[in-house]
Amino acid sequence: SPTAESRKPAHSPLTVAHRGASGDAPENTLAAVDKAHEMGIDWVENDVQRTKDGKLVVIHDTTLSRTTDVEDRFPDRSPWNVTDFTLKEIKTLDAGSWFGSEFKGERIPTLAEYLDRITRNGQDLLLELKSPELYPDIERQTLGELRTEGWLDRKHTKSKLIIQSFDKNAITKVHQQNPAVKTGFLGTPKTNELKDYAKFADQINPTSADATKKYVDAVHALKGPHHKRLEVFTWTVNDAETARKVADAGVDGIISNKPDVVSDAVAKA
Ligand code: G3P
Ligand code: CA
Repeated sequence: SPTAESRKPAHSPLTVAHRGASGDAPENTLAAVDKAHEMGIDWVENDVQRTKDGKLVVIHDTTLSRTTDVEDRFPDRSPWNVTDFTLKEIKTLDAGSWFGSEFKGERIPTLAEYLDRITRNGQDLLLELKSPELYPDIERQTLGELRTEGWLDRKHTKSKLIIQSFDKNAITKVHQQNPAVKTGFLGTPKTNELKDYAKFADQINPTSADATKKYVDAVHALKGPHHKRLEVFTWTVNDAETARKVADAGVDGIISNKPDVVSDAVAKA
């Protein structure tokens, strides 16, 4: 019988590079999506927020501290919130050195720059509206930018783009403002509440601990706003064993900092 290492799951979910291939390059940078591309990973996840002067940028934390040199560059601007810096200021920051000296000079991308790069790479996008409560109307602005950048044409809308959030209101707004766009809710609603989520969300995206077969089956039993079976993308899985476990539970996608490891673990036999 196959060893644990060589065993392949019966079912082969998609692999999504979390914040790009963020185990091997600085998260949410162009270097991280390029790294995922080099690994042959089609899907990337990112986080979108807004600068003081109203520009959409790709960054996970609501402050600039952890992933840039902002504290050295702007020592008087504590607590270094993304919302308190203009794009021009943000573009002076080094978003790569914290991860490794070979990434020195990497910048925080605007959403437009990011979309341009992944379009060139032929990648698909799981876009997260991060802390949307801080950014009034970011749903409409994000949809507008996606349209400008050519991401809401038929092809992309159908298969290349999902907008997700922990914030139910934000996902509801995205669905109302552009019902064609696929959406995902981040979290684990109670199974008796899933029917409500299925009115506006095409995916329910729980942690890997919550992605049991029982829960995945309960999600799959429902149809989403586009009359298709609700999907499950789970996060954040960085090792082969857990990847095989959630694949066996039936998830449709696995969001990972080590997408090369995960895609290999769940590849078809
Ligand atoms: O895509 C799932 C995951 O990104 C949610 O958590 O904190 O990494 O944005 P976080
Ligand atoms: Ca995220």
